[in-house]
Amino acid sequence: MLSYTVYSEAGGVGKTSLTANVAKAHERAGLDVLVVPLDPQDGNFSRLFDVDDDRTDSSADSLVRHLVGSPAGNFEDLIRTAEGIDIIPEHNTLSDLSDHLAREKSRAEDFGDAYNIYAQLRRVLGENDVPERYDVLICDPPATESDHLYNAIYATRNLLIPFEPSAKGEASVEGLEQLATNFADQLSIDVGVLGVIPIGYKNTKDQKEILDQVPFEVPEVIGDRTSMMEGCWRQQCSAFEFVRTHRSTRRDYEVETLAQFDRIARFIEAQGGVEAPNPLEPGFVAEREEVTL
Ligand SMILES: Nc1ncnc2c1ncn2[C@@H]1O[C@H](COP(=O)(O)OP(=O)(O)O)[C@@H](O)[C@H]1O
Ligand SMILES: [Mg+2]
Repeated sequence: MLSYTVYSEAGGVGKTSLTANVAKAHERAGLDVLVVPLDPQDGNFSRLFDVDDDRTDSSADSLVRHLVGSPAGNFEDLIRTAEGIDIIPEHNTLSDLSDHLAREKSRAEDFGDAYNIYAQLRRVLGENDVPERYDVLICDPPATESDHLYNAIYATRNLLIPFEPSAKGEASVEGLEQLATNFADQLSIDVGVLGVIPIGYKNTKDQKEILDQVPFEVPEVIGDRTSMMEGCWRQQCSAFEFVRTHRSTRRDYEVETLAQFDRIARFIEAQGGVEAPNPLEPGFVAEREEVTL
């Protein structure tokens, strides 16, 4: 199974939008995809795919319950599917994840057992055969340093880094090189960087100079697509679905952005040694009539 965490140091860069569309690009090429979003705040991945209806239901089972060893149901039943992508929706209990994990750790230590707070997502996924059942696992944790982020990185071991090429982003180019090494040291694991994806690129001289300094592979540079991305959040769907069902006329630059998501997915798959069984022409979107059943 190919697994990675979409990580950026700053929030609001377009991390969740990128996760959604690269996940969709894997899925439409015939791969089995599981996304585990871990953002305790609203306006996250589960909202984008409209699978967050249980998030405030305190009696509902949740991933957090499984992470701390108090499941209230089968792991299987946590999974929802949207646009062919399997998702473990975010639940409000994610806000209290750190407290719950700390409590579990102290309980384990009372009995003289070792307990790794950061290894719990990996444990739950492993115990439920996720690595055998899926081709691709993607985590979308919050940008802030947190147990959510560390659990995601510990479980996936690879990073895909969306990046805003602005003056603000320039400072973080310098940090990029150190990033994976720091996580690796902190968690005592190897962490790879699959690539860096600049988002909201406006092709200015300053931005070009910043891009030249990025110390990792940059498979694609995503332009400013405010209208399409806002449309996705409004209609609660991927950009592929948005263009297919909510745009009466195709706009070449939007279709080209879809092609970029497809190519990013192929690039990542190649690095992970995964071959998609049915890769479409990049950016291909069926006409509405053709797909109506
Ligand atoms: N390529 C893009 N061009 C313009 N706006 C974008 C792009 N990608 C995402 N956005 C917008 O940026 C905002 C933050 O996106 P989101 O994916 O939630 O970021 P994050 O997960 O990093 O907080 C949203 O309003 C989204 O529509
Ligand atoms: Mg997000």
